[in-house]
Amino acid sequence: MSYASLEVLFSPADFAALKGRDLSSAVAVVFDVLRATSSIVTALAHGAEAVIPVQEIEQANALAREEPAYLLAGERHGLRLLAHQTGQRDFDLGNSPREFQPEIVAGRTIVMTTTNGTRALQACSHARAVLVGSFLNLTATARALSQARAEQLLLVCGGTFEELAYEDVLGAGALAELLGQQAPLSDSALIARQIWRGAEPDLLAALARSRNGRHLLGQPALAEDVAYCAQVDRFPVVGQIQGERVTSCEGPDQDVWAGAIHQPSKILQSRRVPP
Ligand code: MLT
Repeated sequence: MSYASLEVLFSPADFAALKGRDLSSAVAVVFDVLRATSSIVTALAHGAEAVIPVQEIEQANALAREEPAYLLAGERHGLRLLAHQTGQRDFDLGNSPREFQPEIVAGRTIVMTTTNGTRALQACSHARAVLVGSFLNLTATARALSQARAEQLLLVCGGTFEELAYEDVLGAGALAELLGQQAPLSDSALIARQIWRGAEPDLLAALARSRNGRHLLGQPALAEDVAYCAQVDRFPVVGQIQGERVTSCEGPDQDVWAGAIHQPSKILQSRRVPP
């Protein structure tokens, strides 16, 4: 499939403006590389049944009251939510992707609230389809997009509080690079791709320079998350929002996909997905 347009939304102000836009023919990919979308992708790759992103702690609590088997995950200021913040119990998991191990998440539904990632996912939930993007599943996502039946492609950067986040722009730029000639790149996509090209030779160093990277590296328990999230194509999983839930989208015969091809490849230069 080729798209009529490929646009990057850099900051929370940009994705907040999506509310008033008709996205009925758009596919959106949300990046919160450090770390919400990397955590969701890891959870799905490790067998989680679904992740339900919610904005507020109270929404997470309410869902867990209805369904006590749900795992609760999320952060504020990067750290796992504890009883004194939730007004109920400690959350089971924070927002470190390394916590979402198969023995903890396989077969489970996880309710997740994070500062920006869950907010970005919800901001474009009226799009025809919404995918969860990260470096961990970059090529799988590009290949799924190449099968999508949609006019418009929006790459949505989750950001940090109200600001743009460098690592999300890198993720969007890397995806724009992979999609190559499938869509005329808007100026925003050209900018993201150019920034990615500058960072590609040492992605880890680039993530480490970012505000979120520096914050994580300054906390011994979270420092390894940066290298973890810098892994390209670790998982062949494609995460898609279906209603309120993010699930792993496999196989053909869905409304939007003619069939996702899950096939990691070797180096990014050779990964360009043909039109
Ligand atoms: C977010 O959703 O704002 C981030 O993922 C925050 C974090 O790294 O924990």
